[in-house]
Amino acid sequence: MNAPIVNLDLSGKKAVVTGAVSGIGLACAQRLAGAGAAVTVVDLDADAARAAAGSLPGSGHEGVGVDLSSPAGLDSLADERFAADVLVNNAGFQRVAPIEEYPTEVFTAIHNVLLHAPFRLIRTSLPRMYAAGWGRIVNISSAHGLVASPYKSGYVSAKHGLEGLSKVTAMEGGAKGVTSNCINPGYVRTPLVEKQIADQAKTHGIGEDEVVEKIMLLRPAIKRLVEPDEVAEIAAFLCSDAAASITGSAYRIDGGWTSN
Ligand SMILES: NC(=O)c1ccc[n+]([C@@H]2O[C@H](COP(=O)([O-])OP(=O)(O)OC[C@H]3O[C@@H](n4cnc5c(N)ncnc54)[C@H](O)[C@@H]3O)[C@@H](O)[C@H]2O)c1
Repeated sequence: MNAPIVNLDLSGKKAVVTGAVSGIGLACAQRLAGAGAAVTVVDLDADAARAAAGSLPGSGHEGVGVDLSSPAGLDSLADERFAADVLVNNAGFQRVAPIEEYPTEVFTAIHNVLLHAPFRLIRTSLPRMYAAGWGRIVNISSAHGLVASPYKSGYVSAKHGLEGLSKVTAMEGGAKGVTSNCINPGYVRTPLVEKQIADQAKTHGIGEDEVVEKIMLLRPAIKRLVEPDEVAEIAAFLCSDAAASITGSAYRIDGGWTSN
């Protein structure tokens, strides 16, 4: 893990990070906890969420199990325990299939996790943020929040929706001290991508190194996967005083992928 570069003090602040058991979410939770925030880890499995919370530096952390794909899980997000000063909407998953074969229930589930859950959590957190005159919302979008690829209809449409939600939040919160921004990673070295590498190696009958080199890194100018802590450092920057005037933005960290 790289040393933090952004000067950030979140002492006395509460952060809620979804999908924080693993990958980018865990890196964000570690970075925010390291800056002094009390972090609520929200993830599918309650035990795993509690274990992740227990592994963070500092104190005041908690882990909560919520299935963000289910209507009951979404409804539970109205609870005050999910009201944050810093909200990182990160939980996500991927499913790849042509539209005519794309399972409709998966399309709904992916929209619930990637778009409806952020809406519910923003809705729960804004009153606390407005009362404090300060709040930071960081939405982990994707290069696929800006451009499309075939076979990812659920994911691409939900991430594009998240971009719009983030901008509306920025418009409503701007005068009340609340910023909302997206981060748009290319391929990041996380369990989500490691699974895709293994799947694609099988599908194409090639080695995993070749999948990374010839498929994932074909378009980026920088020929390596992004690391989770690089994404977390942008999240930290967006929470810092230096970023107080940045809102409604989308920060691409994709090695140049969406520039060609
Ligand atoms: N890894 C990448 O290359 C990449 C690129 C661009 C964007 N992203 C985005 O970054 C975010 C994090 O991805 P990651 O790569 O760290 O993945 P990951 O699989 O390592 O972590 C995702 C986390 O979300 C949780 N989650 C999934 N479904 C959930 C549900 N129904 N309810 C609650 N929690 C649930 C998982 O349990 C897991 O802990 C996602 O939104 C993803 O779309 C990832």
